[in-house]
Amino acid sequence: MPQQTMLEFIEELDKIGQLRRIPEEKRADELPTLMDSVHDKAILVEKLKDCDFQFLAGAYSTREQYAHALNCDVREISARIAELATKRVKPEVVDSAPCKEVILNGDDIDLTRFPLFLYHPHDGHAYLQDVNVVSRHPDSGLINWGMYRLMYRSRNETNVDMRNDSHNSRVIARKYQALGQDMPAAMVIGGPTLDKIACMFSFPGVDDWDILGGFYGKPAKIVKCETNDLTVPANAEIVIEGRIKTTEGWVYDEGPYGEFTGTYGGGLPHNCRFVVDCITYRKSGVYQYATIGGLKPGLTDMMIFSLAVEGDIFTALKNAGLQVLDVYMPSGGCTNIAYTRIRTRGGGDAKQALSVMLSCSRQWFPKIAYVFDEDVDIFDDERVKWAMAWRYDPRKDTVIIPELNVLPLDPLGQTDHPPVNMSKVGFDCTIPLVGDYDHFAFAAATVTDPLGELPQHVEKLTEDELAKRMADFIRETPRTWLDILKRFHGQPNPLIYRAFGQLRPKLGRVADRRPNYPYTFADTWFVYEGDSGKRK
Ligand SMILES: Cc1cc2nc3c(=O)[nH]c(=O)nc-3n(C[C@H](O)[C@H](O)[C@H](O)COP(=O)(O)O)c2cc1C
Repeated sequence: MPQQTMLEFIEELDKIGQLRRIPEEKRADELPTLMDSVHDKAILVEKLKDCDFQFLAGAYSTREQYAHALNCDVREISARIAELATKRVKPEVVDSAPCKEVILNGDDIDLTRFPLFLYHPHDGHAYLQDVNVVSRHPDSGLINWGMYRLMYRSRNETNVDMRNDSHNSRVIARKYQALGQDMPAAMVIGGPTLDKIACMFSFPGVDDWDILGGFYGKPAKIVKCETNDLTVPANAEIVIEGRIKTTEGWVYDEGPYGEFTGTYGGGLPHNCRFVVDCITYRKSGVYQYATIGGLKPGLTDMMIFSLAVEGDIFTALKNAGLQVLDVYMPSGGCTNIAYTRIRTRGGGDAKQALSVMLSCSRQWFPKIAYVFDEDVDIFDDERVKWAMAWRYDPRKDTVIIPELNVLPLDPLGQTDHPPVNMSKVGFDCTIPLVGDYDHFAFAAATVTDPLGELPQHVEKLTEDELAKRMADFIRETPRTWLDILKRFHGQPNPLIYRAFGQLRPKLGRVADRRPNYPYTFADTWFVYEGDSGKRK
């Protein structure tokens, strides 16, 4: 899908039933509960008291929204992301864009133009949440963008939450710090779901606009900033240009934040300060906000984390030579629990998959991984629990890896600052390929399909005639009960069972012909064809 404007995007959300419009005027302090009351679509508050912007939230909080943006089925999201993340298309610089309709400099700069509110009761302050921080690597010149939160300080300054060592914006900010320079940054607000997915991906030596174009399948249109040499996507609604004061260091108190974990993180973080030089925006534009926390933290815009990690896991398993079929992070796990379905061939596929799943993503998730066979629908929690109940052996199917990377937000980490590590666990819920296992013992007892339409011309038989034909049928070769039912389908059901009853005293079961043990004429109940009767 090519680059969309926010208006086109919102119209499309409406069309596919993924938008609730709220025409009544709302106050900023009403927004938190409003966002927490809708978990199956986006909300658009069309009028906000004391604010010129409309308010959009939850626009990337459902699998349906992602599937639509990626033009695939909800079950194919991980494979589709893995595919699109490899594509590169160079951007096209345009002269102007709607986000230049209003340009504020000097004393006109005022962040209180945006709706500010206390999202979670223990947050340190209000914050801008759906902000893509654009920066340029000082050595390579490559653009990076990634989402970070900015906690309000005053009309023209915020803090910026950059605490994780695997996040490129922090890596780049540290470079500027080492050079004794502040980091020029452009904070982009407003973007369709595809932009949000693309911004989660970064690869060494690759410009993030080339990745964005790869997701579009077309060049990303970008426009120059007013006060620095950065560029931003031309479909941005609001751009806040300024400097992250890396020369001052990570010295400012920020937070706590209600986190995507549904908890508050571990303490009062140290972060950098951001000073605003210029604000540009589209007149009567849309102020986008990402839902986070609340009582269903897995069903917020932070679901994007899960989607990004699903894509990472899919790619990594494929690269490890494993036959991955799909990857799914159930929403309740808030990106910390992942399921994978694989086709096992090598005796170590499942354990290898677990170690890959626990360590492959630069987002450092998940902490808990499960791997399943191809016959298990990992999108169906009933089947997932079933497979774990009967295929997982705690003694040999638990993989624990100590001291792997996690974000400082994990409450068990008991810290607000890196470095931090923690053990991670994988559960092998696949049928073992190595060892003397009776594989039929693991087969799912699904239900018998109907025998089909009755045959048109069925010869009417008495019970004795039926018993005789049944006997001939079994004498030809040992037969299962399903063979017999199919063969005499059309005869009255009670008659079939009565005729069989006549034969039953003379029949035994071929006990070493797994799994159906067909009936055969014999003078013993258990008939062995092989030498030992050993199960195969
Ligand atoms: C809405 C949203 C807000 C986020 N806020 C933060 C944040 O405040 N601090 C942080 O370290 N990561 C945050 N993240 C995660 C990063 O955006 C994510 O890891 C991203 O891949 C980093 O991009 P980068 O490595 O290219 O800079 C947020 C993610 C989302 C979706």
